[in-house]
Amino acid sequence: MEGPDDAAVWKLDDQRALVITTDFFTPVVDDAYDYGSIAAANSLSDVFAMGGRPFLALNVAALPPNQPIELLAEILRGGAEKARQAGVVIAGGHTVQDKEPKYGLVVLGVVELNHLISKNGARPGDLLLLSKPLGFGVITTALKQELAAPEDIAEVVTWMKQLNKNASELAVAAGVRGGTDITGYSLLGHAWEMASASHVGMRFEFEKIPFVQNVFRYAKEWIFPGGAFDNKQYFSSHVQFDPKIDDIAQTILFDPETSGGLLLSAPPEKAKEILKNAKEIDQPMWEVGEVISGNHILVE
Ligand code: CO
Ligand code: CO
Repeated sequence: MEGPDDAAVWKLDDQRALVITTDFFTPVVDDAYDYGSIAAANSLSDVFAMGGRPFLALNVAALPPNQPIELLAEILRGGAEKARQAGVVIAGGHTVQDKEPKYGLVVLGVVELNHLISKNGARPGDLLLLSKPLGFGVITTALKQELAAPEDIAEVVTWMKQLNKNASELAVAAGVRGGTDITGYSLLGHAWEMASASHVGMRFEFEKIPFVQNVFRYAKEWIFPGGAFDNKQYFSSHVQFDPKIDDIAQTILFDPETSGGLLLSAPPEKAKEILKNAKEIDQPMWEVGEVISGNHILVE
């Protein structure tokens, strides 16, 4: 396999492979339970992004020495309940002392090789589907600056806690081969990773891209995490924007997401099947663009 994918893949036999991944980060929200839950959903996501089924996990945690033990207990409870929801057992882990809290999981999953979803599986003519809206980085940055409205925080917390399990199962059932999850490199950064691994281009339709409700209210005040500007600088040369998409809108497409959705690349008939089945189980899913030949990301 070429290039790094969402997780390491270790072939077990002719049919199956182990999928191994880890991820952890500092708190994105104030509530310890929600933080644990979001971090776990985010760690599990890389297995789902590859069409795998996670089954075992370990906690990785760091806590400042002067914090009450109840705080760690709440973080771990959030992680454990999210893992259980995903059908995953947390079999232990390790906690160290550190200045800033950190939490996440090491996750082990299994994938059927003929169901493996990877960054190099996008083909011209495929439609691009996205399973969560964008803007979590903007809202959590507004939260850190004490500028976010409670309902906007609640909206992104709900999204970030959501597992990518159903979206992954829909993709596997439809036979999708191309996909990844949208995290720190933003929609356009992860799209570029997929496009370059697959040797294709992509065309996004801005009007079709979903955003959390009030993200533009904050973006207009230039409330963005530093990572949005890093992403913009790093990936801009691969992206061509239609002139109608202003600087603020462009920057939101570079917003680093925490526990973002899956970006799936599927031939039109499979994409239609996923959209139809997603609706039946109330799994959000948006068609946001298409795969084209070439080597650029276009946003129109
Ligand atoms: Co990933
Ligand atoms: Co990751």
